Amino acid sequence: MNGKYRTHLCEDIGANDIGKQLSVSGWVHRRRDHGGVIFIDLRDVSGILQLVFDPEYEDLFKTAEKMRSEFVLSVSGIVRERPDGTINNDMRTGAVELLVESGEVLNASKTPPFHHDEATNEDVRLKYRYLDLRREDMSKNIKIRHEITRSLREYLNKSSYFEIETPILTKATPEGARDYLVPSRTQQGNFFALPQSPQLFKQLLMMSGFDRYYQIARCFRDEDLRADRQPEFTQLDVEMSFVEQDDVKTEMESMVRELFKSVLDVDLSKQFTQITHAEAMERFGSDSPHLGIDMELTEVSDLMQEVEFKVFSGPANDDDSRVACLVLKDSSGMSRKQIDDYTNFVSNYGAKGLAYIKVNEVEKGVDGLQSPILKFLNEDVINQLIEKLSLENGNTVFFGADKKEIVNASLGALRVKIAEDFDLIHEGWFPLWVTDFPMFHWDDKEKRWSAEHHPFTSPINLDPEELATNPKEALSQGYDMVLNGHEIGGGSIRIHSEAMQQAVFSILGISEEEASEKFGFFLEALKYGCPPHGGIAFGIDRIVMLMTGSSNIRDVIAFPKTQTASCLLTDAPSQAGKGQLNELGVSIKKKN
Ligand code: AMO
Ligand code: AMP
Repeated sequence: MNGKYRTHLCEDIGANDIGKQLSVSGWVHRRRDHGGVIFIDLRDVSGILQLVFDPEYEDLFKTAEKMRSEFVLSVSGIVRERPDGTINNDMRTGAVELLVESGEVLNASKTPPFHHDEATNEDVRLKYRYLDLRREDMSKNIKIRHEITRSLREYLNKSSYFEIETPILTKATPEGARDYLVPSRTQQGNFFALPQSPQLFKQLLMMSGFDRYYQIARCFRDEDLRADRQPEFTQLDVEMSFVEQDDVKTEMESMVRELFKSVLDVDLSKQFTQITHAEAMERFGSDSPHLGIDMELTEVSDLMQEVEFKVFSGPANDDDSRVACLVLKDSSGMSRKQIDDYTNFVSNYGAKGLAYIKVNEVEKGVDGLQSPILKFLNEDVINQLIEKLSLENGNTVFFGADKKEIVNASLGALRVKIAEDFDLIHEGWFPLWVTDFPMFHWDDKEKRWSAEHHPFTSPINLDPEELATNPKEALSQGYDMVLNGHEIGGGSIRIHSEAMQQAVFSILGISEEEASEKFGFFLEALKYGCPPHGGIAFGIDRIVMLMTGSSNIRDVIAFPKTQTASCLLTDAPSQAGKGQLNELGVSIKKKN
């Protein structure tokens, strides 16, 4: 590095450079006036170096007096050891400083709306995102994100995958969310859809014979946003030919192991845990369980079939329902108010209540328990419960009784909430595969079957007729990779026969006509020698979130959208001009 502006990066300068003449460029991070000497912490991409401006250099000193936060400087000088007592061991360059002998202000800056170490409202940070990204935490996240994609690319490149781009202006891809549409000017009244994923294109690439594909692909989904969801997000999209489930899993595990080793120097377990979807729901109430939490759901339907308490006996006797419970082992300090808060919390997941039992003195049997539901349960049931759950003093048992979906969603979420509140989550990384998903789930609102993964996922061991006879029981060759309670990737072995693809469309209520209109090109392609194939897509943003310890997906995306899917920096989306709309043949309906 020996250009006009600098010879060194700030943090590359150390004790070895003492006495050297060199130059650096960057931003004024902090400025301190210390009785006659001005200190400036200069920040560049590498980090921070302390500059000293001495009044001896009169003109330069005058310039330094005018320097303010975020001014851009280029300076030259001599590296010297810091005097005794001023060494800062928290800084990489804390033992040295640059005595500035010449330099200039390359550019001034308005007073920034917030300072680096200030907590600021996120809207302001997003509006001035370029300033927000100058902060150390944010800049670190984006740099780690780069390390992550670099590691993933390296692994796939050396494993003979082709990196291939697929279109952004395309046709709807059914991943289950709403599409973003783009009106066509050349064919008024027609629309492109932005891809929810490159799913169909990557399958076509397998049919084209590329054998192994990957892409760091932008995906667009107009869906309700959460802490780990963005309308525009990035997948590492992978597909391979002539493979079975285990081939994909083994390869992807090894990629993820290498990722953690190279970026975090962490050794993940040799073989990831694998559980079926049914087991995940039964034990954790979730298809993306955090295995660093010991608490599990216990089924108690069998004990509750005969009880007088209808809230329990109803679901206990219904095949689509369950009665399950969670035991918090050390609930000392749990107040009545906290139980009310948890009752409110589970109501967000549709639960109608949250029955509980506090275990005070288990040796006294029923008399040692405290609960509003004891009066509805006979002593025998209570004793069986004490035994089945191995209850001990200090435990609190929470019950969920309802349709399985409601009990699983509410107790599954409560499990994580309690573990957070009581600090019960083990440190470390808990990767797992969830497999054997149902092919379909019944959409009660729409009164039809819906694909659990997407409609191109192959069933396990069924021919098209068998599948059509019993869609409810059919399992798929879909798999998710889950890490610490987040689904970081999902994929499947695909359908590679046209007959099976048609059968799935027909179960999903997609008529032949509709299938041909929406996916005709794809069904046609299946007729020309499609190899068996499968793949997966990882949510890069989620992986970066986890690997940087961020709790918000926006903190790992350079220019993210808000919860209401807008960009505060550019003010998008915004209105289009009349002329532009005319050209597109689009008119805007007045809001009611
Ligand atoms: P899926 O829909 O499961 O599969 O997406 C794959 C992974 O992408 C991440 N993800 C998201 N991340 C941030 N914001 C979102 N809105 C969002 N939606 C999904 C998740 C998820 O695991 N085509 C299939 C993959 C395949 O079958 O190969 C697909 O897109 O981490
Ligand atoms: P109730 O008889 O409605 O007052 O309910 C008695 C207790 O059962 C209260 O603690 C409720 O929170 C709880 N409860 C009510 N419905 C359910 C349910 N579906 N699952 C779990 N607990 C419930």
